[in-house]
Amino acid sequence: MVLNGRPLTVLVVVSFWLLLICGLSCGVQSDIDCLKGIKDALEDPYGYLTSWNFNNNTEVFICKFTGIDCWNPDENKVLNIRLSYMGLKGQFPSAVKNCTTLIGLDLSNNKLFGNIPQNISNLVRFASSLDLSSNNFSGQIPVDLSNCSYLNVLKLDHNKLTGQIPAELSLISRLKQFSVANNLLTGPVPYFGANSSITADSYANNPGLCGFPLDPCQSTWT
Ligand SMILES: *[C@@H]1O[C@H](CO)[C@@H](O)[C@H](O)[C@H]1NC(C)=O
Ligand SMILES: *[C@@H]1O[C@H](CO)[C@@H](O)[C@H](O)[C@H]1NC(C)=O
Ligand SMILES: *[C@@H]1O[C@H](CO)[C@@H](O)[C@H](O)[C@H]1NC(C)=O
Ligand SMILES: *[C@@H]1O[C@H](CO)[C@@H](O)[C@H](O)[C@H]1NC(C)=O
Ligand SMILES: *[C@@H]1O[C@H](CO)[C@@H](O)[C@H](O)[C@H]1NC(C)=O
Ligand SMILES: *[C@@H]1O[C@H](CO)[C@@H](O)[C@H](O)[C@H]1NC(C)=O
Repeated sequence: MVLNGRPLTVLVVVSFWLLLICGLSCGVQSDIDCLKGIKDALEDPYGYLTSWNFNNNTEVFICKFTGIDCWNPDENKVLNIRLSYMGLKGQFPSAVKNCTTLIGLDLSNNKLFGNIPQNISNLVRFASSLDLSSNNFSGQIPVDLSNCSYLNVLKLDHNKLTGQIPAELSLISRLKQFSVANNLLTGPVPYFGANSSITADSYANNPGLCGFPLDPCQSTWT
């Protein structure tokens, strides 16, 4: 699902990056640190992450954790993190930065709160899918999200986000699926082009959004 759009480009870029940074001796320690950091950062009242046992000395083990997909089952390099509907509580886990080849992050339908980090693009640089929907995130949508240039899917709906949507999000050229519905957003929406697959549904149930494909803005928004 995450691999729709242009998976090959992402694959090539990530592989190249891996080679460049890691050479032939790339450890998996950072991915282990990543998942440890995520587990430490989140309250897990229903125990979904108890299978995340870091005391297992088997060579490859994190790929068997609940919600984790790896690039290759023989290598602890995380491809996707899928932790929706787990009742997880806490702030956005910045430890995801240590999952250096992550392309899909789904934290939807939990109880996460606080701001989306201002430097989100440093944390999920290669993400092609980012789903933070149905949580309790507040504050503004960071303009830095526009630096996540591989995003195909960006779901921020059903949170408590406020302020304007950064116009720069229209710079994400691969974006096919985008939703900020059911937030507290105001002002002009980004212009994704006349033929964009992004429709008015993406913006439903906000108190004051305007501009194509919604109604035109009043002149106070320039
Ligand atoms: C360690 O990992 C291996 C491979 O996934 C698994 O078969 C084994 O049950 C794990 N041991 C513990 C104590 O979790
Ligand atoms: C990444 O892992 C290292 C080593 O455990 C840790 O010191 C660092 O804080 C982690 N980075 C983030 C952003 O959590
Ligand atoms: C992101 O910003 C926070 C403060 O807002 C800072 O603590 C953290 O080190 C930054 N992380 C990166 C990867 O730049
Ligand atoms: C969301 O956050 C608000 C405070 O900002 C709090 O009152 C509310 O209970 C939270 N809702 C959930 C579902 O966690
Ligand atoms: C986003 O990318 C632009 C252009 O490369 C850069 O100037 C800016 O500092 C980046 N934003 C962040 C928060 O890293
Ligand atoms: C938008 O779609 C119309 C009709 O399908 C087409 O003629 C036009 O060239 C498209 N415009 C862009 C910018 O792709």
